[in-house]
Amino acid sequence: MPPFTLPQLPYGKDALSPHISAETLEFHYGKHHQAYVDNLNKLIAGTKYENKDLADIVKNTSGALFNNAAQNWNHTFYWKSMSAEKNQSPKGPLAQAIDQNFGSYAEFEKQFAAAAVGLFGSGWAWLVLLKNKKLKIVTTADAKTPIGTASGTPLFTMDVWEHAYYIDYRNARAKYVEGFWKVLNWNFAGENFDQSMAVKRPTAWKQPLKKSSKRFRK
Ligand SMILES: [Fe+2]
Repeated sequence: MPPFTLPQLPYGKDALSPHISAETLEFHYGKHHQAYVDNLNKLIAGTKYENKDLADIVKNTSGALFNNAAQNWNHTFYWKSMSAEKNQSPKGPLAQAIDQNFGSYAEFEKQFAAAAVGLFGSGWAWLVLLKNKKLKIVTTADAKTPIGTASGTPLFTMDVWEHAYYIDYRNARAKYVEGFWKVLNWNFAGENFDQSMAVKRPTAWKQPLKKSSKRFRK
């Protein structure tokens, strides 16, 4: 049994239709993602990466191994970034953070769409929670991913490789981006946001003082 397998899609192949068709998922998930899984398994066979976690491989490799590992990670995250429960909107703390960081939801959507449509060539558009707890729209080329650069925590991603939209929209990436909003899984993005905000780093002044260390007793 090879170490990596194609993860289960979180919905049926026709669940995102008409925005993303079953035929697109047949190819994108069934052929492209499957090929990244198969290539990754071939590349790690007999190497020290055979028993490593996918994120570890992404963070510690380059070249073909990085490309195939990162495309596996990115696609798995992308499938989760969409939902059969259509027309969601951000809620709670994430909705507030979007307003604070971008002025309004409409302004966020405009900026994100401009970044996604404007990315030259193949790549990914992400909403990332930076380490300073600010939200940022990030685009990455080819297989590159925010988890590899440790710049922050991705909340959701949009695949803007042509294979993500060519069957449904031909070359019209902007139309695909419009459809993507309808299937975006804001519940998933919100959970990622809440988890990331809840991670507290201990600060020195919060550490309880040692009551009576013998070293300092007279
Ligand atoms: Fe893709």
